[in-house]
This record gives sequence, structure tokens and C-alpha cells, in this order.
Amino acid sequence: MAAQVEQAQAATKNKADGRARITASVYSSHVPAIGAAIDHGKTEEPYWQPLFKGYDFSKQWMKDNTPDVIFLVYNDHATSFDLGVIPTFAIGTAAEFEPADEGYGPRPVPVVKGHPELASHIAQSVIQQDFDLTIVNDLKVDHGLTVPMNLMFGSPAAWPCKVIPFHVNVVQYPVPSGARCFALGQAIRRAIESYDQPLKVQIWGTGGMSHQLQGPRAGLINAEWDNRFLDRLIADPKDLSTMPHIDYVREAGSEGIELVMWLIARGAMSDVAGSGKAPKVAHRFFHVPASNTAVGHLILENQV
Ligand code: DHB
Ligand code: FE
Repeated sequence: MAAQVEQAQAATKNKADGRARITASVYSSHVPAIGAAIDHGKTEEPYWQPLFKGYDFSKQWMKDNTPDVIFLVYNDHATSFDLGVIPTFAIGTAAEFEPADEGYGPRPVPVVKGHPELASHIAQSVIQQDFDLTIVNDLKVDHGLTVPMNLMFGSPAAWPCKVIPFHVNVVQYPVPSGARCFALGQAIRRAIESYDQPLKVQIWGTGGMSHQLQGPRAGLINAEWDNRFLDRLIADPKDLSTMPHIDYVREAGSEGIELVMWLIARGAMSDVAGSGKAPKVAHRFFHVPASNTAVGHLILENQV
């Protein structure tokens, strides 16, 4: 095993030494129409009200459990990364990330403040653990990041913590496998927990659940499969990580592949590293429909 990995693991074992730790993982869909509903004051309309109600618990939980930093795994939708350059995995190392213009002007949400020092440390550690990340100093964030932020925090004047955006290519084939994403989550955990500041860090996995936006199967939603995915993500993520792409596409539609990002966040939990019990399911929510997709949401707290 690489010396870097051993060093990072040794650091993780020493819990009382003022290092960063992952407190929880959060999972949420990122439907752009949710952003539009918020921006146009429609959250209380009958179509949207049940969806937003599912996040009431989460907003209170975020107030009670505000981290110092969120490591936010999401996908850019050909917004900052057009077809000119398509990184598989990219880490945002800048001090600030502005909301992107996705065709209707930038969303009226606060600028995301990054954590360049922690992001650089994670890049160093994860690249030395043999994951070839792209380093991004200039990134505008689209609905993939801003919609989950709204769902969890509401619409404050400023986001209450720092965010490290981490982009995964799930838009243009070939996309990374579930197994690769799960292993990457484990490497990210080692990186975060070897940072020598006592920061509380959450890791979020976003995107999904089942949806297909084009072709003859446009509008596909598979609620039974989605709920089975949630069960397996909680109880046996290692087994879930072996599921091949074609199963996502067949069962959850072409855009259902966004769900591989959830395996990065789950891979970063302490039970996967063998240093903690199974996480506590603080909240689970599922709702259909929201625009063309099923919305899934989980909050898992680390039990160390
Ligand atoms: C929709 C869902 C997405 O995940 C996305 O990125 C774009 C559109 C939709 O349901 O319309
Ligand atoms: Fe999407």
C-alpha cells in the first residue's frame, strides 16, 4: 500500500488529535424545476408543497448540525464543463464559486465560499492514492449543486458554511463505475481525516433518482427500484457498488446513472473503513414526481 495511504490511515486512528472528521453524509436529488419553484415563490403550491415538506426535518437538522465544510459531490450539466473538456472527477480548489447561468441568468442564490486549503490537501492526498483528479480553480456551479443547498438550508442571504464542489462526469459516456466511485469515497475519507484542523465535515452525494429526459423512454420513473437502491445504499453499499452501468440505465433510465455519485459519499462513511458502526438513518424521504424525476433523500450520521 502506498505510504500516503498508510499515513492517512494512521492519522484516522488517532481520533483525539484535532483532525478533521466526517460527521454525516447527506443524499439528495437536484431537479432544476425545484430551483425554479423556489426562485418564483411556488413552494407552497399543491404540486410542490409535499416535496418541500419532506425537507423540513432536514433544514432543522442542518441548523442543529451545521458543519464547517461540506464536501459536495455533484455533476455539472455541460455548464462549466462543455463538450470541450470533460473531466471524470474534478475538485474545486477556488475561494469562491458563483452560480452559473443555465440559460435564464444565474439563480439568485449566494456565492459558494470554498475552502482552498482543505481542497488542496484532499487533492494532494487523493491523487497520491492514485485517483487522477482534475484541479479546478475557475468553476461556476449549476443546479446540480445549488438545488441541494436550497433544499437543506432554505434561502439564506449567505450559505452558513464552506463548500468544496466535487464534480463527477455522469453526462457524457464513458462515466465512472459504481465500484470506482465507492473506492474514491474511501480515499476521500482518508484525505479528510488526515487534515490537521478540527473541522466538522459533511459529505453529500447528489443527483438521481430514476429519470430519463430524452428518447422513447423519456419520463421513466421506477419507484420500486429507487427504494431498493436506498435500502442497499444504507445496508450494503459494497454490494451495491458492484452493480454495472447497464442496470442503472435499464432500471432507472439514462439519467438515473447520476446515482453513482451517492456511492462516493457512502464510501466515505466510517463503517466502510471498519472504524465505526453502521450509520444512523436520521432521515429518509422519497417523493414522486418532481418534474421528470423521483426525488430521494437520506441523512446518515456516522457512529464512531
Ligand atoms: C431534470 C432532472 C435532472 O436531474 C436534470 O439535471 C435536469 C432535468 C428534470 O427532471 O427535468
Ligand atoms: Fe441532473
